Amino acid sequence: MPEGKLRVYSAPVYYDNKIIGIIVIAQSLNLMDIAMKNLFGIFTIIIPILIGIAILGGIIISNKALKPISHMTKVAREISVGDLSKRLNLPYTNDEIGNLAQTFDMMIEKLENSFKRQKQFTHDASHELRTPIAVIQTQAESALNGTGTKEEYKKALQVILEEAKHMSKLVHDLLFLARSDSNAEKLTIENLNFSELIEGIVNELAPLAENNGLILKIIKNDPSYIRGDQTRIIQLFYNLIDNAIKYTPAGGKVEISVENAGKFIKTSIKDTGIGIPEEHLPHIFERFYRVDKARTRKSGGSGLGLSICQWIVNAHGGKIEVESCEGKGATFVVWLPTSKK
Ligand SMILES: Nc1ncnc2c1ncn2[C@@H]1O[C@H](COP(=O)(O)OP(=O)(O)OP(=O)(O)O)[C@@H](O)[C@H]1O
Ligand SMILES: [Mg+2]
Repeated sequence: MPEGKLRVYSAPVYYDNKIIGIIVIAQSLNLMDIAMKNLFGIFTIIIPILIGIAILGGIIISNKALKPISHMTKVAREISVGDLSKRLNLPYTNDEIGNLAQTFDMMIEKLENSFKRQKQFTHDASHELRTPIAVIQTQAESALNGTGTKEEYKKALQVILEEAKHMSKLVHDLLFLARSDSNAEKLTIENLNFSELIEGIVNELAPLAENNGLILKIIKNDPSYIRGDQTRIIQLFYNLIDNAIKYTPAGGKVEISVENAGKFIKTSIKDTGIGIPEEHLPHIFERFYRVDKARTRKSGGSGLGLSICQWIVNAHGGKIEVESCEGKGATFVVWLPTSKK
C-alpha cells in the first residue's frame, strides 16, 4: 500500500447477483503535491520576474525607438525660433522614423531656400528702386536751386521722366512676379494665330531696331496656331526681341524664325550681339540677374525680363532654352504646344 496522502477508488465484485468482494485501488498523491508546489513556485516567483524583464525591455526598446522623435521635437522647437539652418541629420534607416526624419530635413531645406530667395528678392527690389529715386531727388533739388538755364531745366525734367518710366516698369514687373508667385496671375486662354501675332510684334519693334542701326527680320514663319493668353504671349516675345535689340551693337541683325515641330511650335530669336558668357547661362532666368552688373541705365534693365518670360512659357506648357557664345550673339528658343486652327 502506498504511503502518505492517497486517492482511493473502490468497486464491489458480484457473482450470481451477490457481492462476493470489493476491489480497492489506491493512488499516492505525493507526486501531485510536489508538482503543485513547483507550479506555485513558478507562479509566485518566476512569472513576476519574467513580467518585470518584459516591462524593462519594453521601456528600453520604446526609449530607443522614441529617441529620434524627441530629437525631432527639440530641433523643430529650435527651428520655430527662427534658425532654419538646423537639420536632424539622423543616420538614414529604411523605416517609418527614418523616412519621416529624411522628409523633415528635405522640407526644412526647401523652406530655407525659399526664405533666402525671398530675402534676396526684397533686397534686390529695394536696391533697384533706390537708384531711380536718388536720381529723381538729385535732379529735382538742383533744378529747384533756380540758377539753371531753360535748357538745363529741360534736361533735368527729361532725366526725371526717364527714371519715372524705369520705376514704373520695375514696379509693374515686380507686381507681375508677386501675383504669379501667389498664383493670382490667371491666363485668359484663347485660340491664337501665332504666326500673325509674331509678325505684329516684329512690325511694332522694327522702328526701335532701325533706330539702333539693326536689321530685324522674320526669316521663316510657318502658319501656326496656339492656345494661349494673347497679352502674355506678346509680352514674352516683346521681352525676348527687346533683349536681342538691346544687346546687339549697331550694324548687327536679329532674325526670327517660327517652325512647326511636331506637337510644338519652335520660335528662335537669334542675334549677332554681345552674347552671354557660358558661366552666366545657368543664371540668366533668375530674378534681377544681369551679366554686366555695372551696366548703365541706358543699356540695361533690371534683370526681371527673362524670369517673366520663363513664367509665361511654363504657364503655357512650353519651355525656353538659350544658346550663346560670348561676343558672337545669342539664340533664345521658345517651344510652345501647337493647336488646331
Ligand atoms: N540677347 C541677349 N544677348 C546678350 N545678353 C542677354 C540677352 N538677353 C539677355 N541677356 C543677359 O541676360 C540678363 C537678363 O536679361 P533680362 O531680360 O532678364 O534683364 P534685363 O534685360 O537686364 O532687364 P529687363 O528685361 O528687366 O528690363 C541681361 O541683363 C543680359 O545680361
Ligand atoms: Mg530684358
